Amino acid sequence: MDEVTIEPIDLAMHAAAALDVQAAAFGLTPDELAVRLQIVERHAQLPGVRAFGAFRAGRLVGFGYGMPNDRAHWWSSVIEPYLAANGNEGWLDDAFSVTELHVHPRFQGIGLGRALITTLCGASALPRSILSAVDRETPARALYRSLGYRDLARRVLFPNTPLPYAVMGATLPLPTPNPTPSRSRRQDQSRSGPFSPP
Ligand SMILES: CC(C)(COP(=O)(O)OP(=O)(O)OC[C@H]1O[C@@H](n2cnc3c(N)ncnc32)[C@H](O)[C@@H]1OP(=O)(O)O)[C@@H](O)C(=O)NCCC(=O)NCCS
Repeated sequence: MDEVTIEPIDLAMHAAAALDVQAAAFGLTPDELAVRLQIVERHAQLPGVRAFGAFRAGRLVGFGYGMPNDRAHWWSSVIEPYLAANGNEGWLDDAFSVTELHVHPRFQGIGLGRALITTLCGASALPRSILSAVDRETPARALYRSLGYRDLARRVLFPNTPLPYAVMGATLPLPTPNPTPSRSRRQDQSRSGPFSPP
């Protein structure tokens, strides 16, 4: 049985495989996929971008990437007034922004999401991290809270996106996961085997 390993990746090189994972995990239409591919390829060229992938038998089954927040970036400019309204605007500075985090549904619930985000943020020397997540009680929100992320703004609306988002922030470093694989949330995932933290 193959182990799942977590490794740094070249985001541009793995953009298509990453979007296949995101489409399976998050749900993307073919049109959204094409737009996202261009965005990821552009993000891959930005200064300070870091990306990690979870691989099983050479296949990407999860990924996360992010970069130091830049107030000039689109995402930062959208969330800025919402954070300012709550007195949280200072979180936009010296913060590592987690842009995407997705695990293929067949590999969820075995600790990969936690390992990916802690590895990703652990690679940054910045003192804090910010991200946005759909403003619902999802596994993602539970994961982020368990790592110390708290809500900085809620009901944030991004242009052309119908669902409201929450913006969350945590101080770094994040608590590191237990190196022994956690008990699978989904018992039928025992086939996936353990992952090897870097
Ligand atoms: C969010 C996501 C990346 C988590 O990845 P994962 O590998 O399944 O998560 P892990 O196994 O590492 O679990 C980490 C924590 O997530 C939360 N979590 C995971 N699955 C959950 C579930 N089904 N219900 C509630 N909480 C859950 C728990 O807090 C869990 O910690 P615990 O196991 O100590 O209780 C994954 O569910 C996913 O890809 N979701 C769809 C895409 C998405 O929403 N991405 C985030 C965009 S902001």
